[in-house]
Amino acid sequence: MEPIDKPTVLNVSGLTKHFTLPSGDKVAAVCDIDIDILHSEIFTILGPSGCGKSTLLRCIAGLETPDKGDISMRGKPVFSSRRGLDTPPQKRQIGMVFQSYAIWPHMSVFENAAFPLRCLKPRMSDETELTNKVMLALSKVEMDGLADRQANKLSGGQQQRLALARAIVAGASLVLLDEPLSNLDARLRRQMRLELKRLQQDLDISILFVTHDQEEALSLSDRIAVMDQGAIRQIGTPREIYYRPENRFVAEFIGITNRIEAEQQVEASGQLVLQTAFGPWKLDGVPKGLMLVNSSMGEKIEIFVRPENITVSKTPSAAPGWICKVGAIEFMGFRQQIMLLSDGGVLTAQADANERFSTGDRVYVDIAVSNHPEKSTDNLEEPVS
Ligand SMILES: Nc1ncnc2c1ncn2[C@@H]1O[C@H](COP(=O)(O)OP(=O)(O)OP(=O)(O)O)[C@@H](O)[C@H]1O
Ligand SMILES: [Mg+2]
Repeated sequence: MEPIDKPTVLNVSGLTKHFTLPSGDKVAAVCDIDIDILHSEIFTILGPSGCGKSTLLRCIAGLETPDKGDISMRGKPVFSSRRGLDTPPQKRQIGMVFQSYAIWPHMSVFENAAFPLRCLKPRMSDETELTNKVMLALSKVEMDGLADRQANKLSGGQQQRLALARAIVAGASLVLLDEPLSNLDARLRRQMRLELKRLQQDLDISILFVTHDQEEALSLSDRIAVMDQGAIRQIGTPREIYYRPENRFVAEFIGITNRIEAEQQVEASGQLVLQTAFGPWKLDGVPKGLMLVNSSMGEKIEIFVRPENITVSKTPSAAPGWICKVGAIEFMGFRQQIMLLSDGGVLTAQADANERFSTGDRVYVDIAVSNHPEKSTDNLEEPVS
């Protein structure tokens, strides 16, 4: 579901930022980036370490001056290199939650949340109104009971909620979160993810979230932009990114570990056969996954397949039926991941946990294919298991 009819909260266009190192070398941290964040959506920038995520966020917040480009908030320009406009951070009405310095540890929870109001010019003179505003924001994030507690005596999740309360007090309709869950343990991370989604819906705010964790991005986001070396490689819903990656970088980054090179041939009977290093593959449909460079016959194509779309059996069965040897087995609870070895290379498959395989077993490979290639949404369906 694409929330296309919602108003745009943030528009970034042609944003570029280089850093110059002491040696004089230039680092292209952000290269010609275009994004639109819609009202009430969680938009995630997903990419590997060093790809420019934090720099992009800092440019949007006004903490870093871009070399080129335009940024506007609700249609109002806040940065424009052409027009020499650079609105200071405190006037952009953007909340920021950076786990490492989200809060002031020496202040109470109340004073941390009240900070944006204390900075107002002219000063807010009505203390009762200030208290009411702060307590309302704290109650929205269920922190009103901890108003007097010193902020350094909070858990990571509570600190994050406090930072969100401060963003609410500041009247922010867009909150930037730079890897806010990275300091939490796995269980708390999952819990905070759900909590964040609930809060975002309750508060009806937009969130621009940064992470390098694909599971976090897929579970939390309305839309994801996959970033690599300062540029955006694909923008889409979690399902589009997961099932229809548009290029090799996105495919590999989100965990499609099997890449099979093939040459297409058509037999006299009209049967399409892919010649691969693992053996021939008589194809009756389109492999569930991604096919790149599907140009003219005889040219090489690349097929990316998820482990969950490759199954194995000990008896000859479905296509392509390549014979492999079990190289390693990884127990994953209700499933097991199986590394398959052959002269053609290595594949990763999955099987039900109750099927018994041993290292060295000879097995037959079965790759799920879709029989409805004409349906454009077909690859957006859940993978067959
Ligand atoms: N102040 C700086 N001076 C020089 N280079 C910088 C500076 N800040 C960032 N960089 C470089 O710019 C690139 C992008 O850095 P950035 O911090 O935006 O990456 P990131 O995607 O947030 O990475 P991580 O996931 O590790 O936080 C990196 O190559 C980094 O080394
Ligand atoms: Mg970063």
